[in-house]
Amino acid sequence: MSIQTIVIVGAGQAGASAILELRAQQFSGEIILIGDEPHLPYERPPLSKDAILQPEQTKLEILSEQKLAELNVKVIRNNAVVKLQPEAHQLVLQSGDVIHYDKLLLATGGSARRLPMLDALGQHVYTLRNLEDSQKLIPVLQPEKRILIVGGGVIGLELASSARAKGCQVTVLEQGAMVMGRCSPLNLSQFLLQQHQRAGIDIQLNTKLVQAELRDQEVILTLENGQQLTGDVVIYGIGIVPNADLAREAGLDVDFAIRVNQYCQTSDPDIYAAGDVATQLVEDEQYRRIETWENANKQAGIFARHVMGNPLAQQTPAWFWTDQLDMNFQFAGDMTATEWHIRGEMDIEQGRNASFVMFGTRNGILVAGITVNQAKEMRHLKKMIAKAQPFDAETLLNLAIDLRKVA
Ligand code: APR
Repeated sequence: MSIQTIVIVGAGQAGASAILELRAQQFSGEIILIGDEPHLPYERPPLSKDAILQPEQTKLEILSEQKLAELNVKVIRNNAVVKLQPEAHQLVLQSGDVIHYDKLLLATGGSARRLPMLDALGQHVYTLRNLEDSQKLIPVLQPEKRILIVGGGVIGLELASSARAKGCQVTVLEQGAMVMGRCSPLNLSQFLLQQHQRAGIDIQLNTKLVQAELRDQEVILTLENGQQLTGDVVIYGIGIVPNADLAREAGLDVDFAIRVNQYCQTSDPDIYAAGDVATQLVEDEQYRRIETWENANKQAGIFARHVMGNPLAQQTPAWFWTDQLDMNFQFAGDMTATEWHIRGEMDIEQGRNASFVMFGTRNGILVAGITVNQAKEMRHLKKMIAKAQPFDAETLLNLAIDLRKVA
């Protein structure tokens, strides 16, 4: 049966990328993009950084109205899908409209995870997930404002950096023993911690929040060790919850996220999922969810190729980046590498001018790489990781040897 209509739910990175990939794979049928936000697809990575620091100069658009028209995409925005009916191959929208699909992509992303204790602080609590969240923070991040950020992950640290650049007094509360513990090796995490401390950001590790209260417009957070922190506002950075309810209610296989196979197909073969909402089968019944901009694009590509019956693109190492304190950090491959080797100097005294490369190995093979203010080397690191190059310290740690020549 030929595929006439493909519907994409979620106008974020995975949704936008799926449109481009479908047309690149020569799909000439109807594409309908449905999003609950009022906007056309936009970039989210700048929302915690440039969109706050220099909103006028920051371009967020991924696909313009004109581009979407050229690609012959029907866009429905400001309208949520409220029901998915797999047997009838249809979706019911908040507006009451019913949309038919032959193949469906769920690219609904995630929502900021919240805590009831902090939600009780009402208007003193902020999240960062969408454009409105970012815009709401701009007037809040004023000089000398006391900002309490809960969570020392990627979002927490990027927001800490932006708030500090705006002259705020910043405290980060992290429950774990490391910052960016989900995705960074220990020595880089320590480097990041020290950089933030040098910038005047207070980072509290191993914290457990036990109470949150509002006294005369001041937020008071109490930790398990009795310590109290006072601030003007709290911002969440404690991860996301995948927006998987539609799939769950429709009876698809969902744990915390929507389970998909290697082709991004859910338990219903006509329904796919990609991006933050999907958890993908990697090996031996193991599923992995990767919350990155790049993974959203990769999975959108897998979906488009599989729907069109085309071979999948060659796999490349996972990659993500973060910008903090005027520094660029890029990560590729498996951050659980057992040993790390540094090319250059991991020198905290150099502050934001620090510049080095890290190689992660397992059993002598390169499995991961990190660049700090050396983005141009990332391409070579990815190449070495993709071919599982044996790690040769004499060459790779020698600054006189060009990495391009040994990759
Ligand atoms: N109190 C303090 N810290 C907490 C708590 C809590 N109650 N709960 C979780 N944390 C910490 C975790 O230990 C972790 O270090 O919050 C941090 C969350 O970090 P991430 O998982 O990286 O999530 P976040 O920073 O919110 O980023 C969400 O947005 O931009 C993307 O790539 C980014 O996918 C990530 C997503």
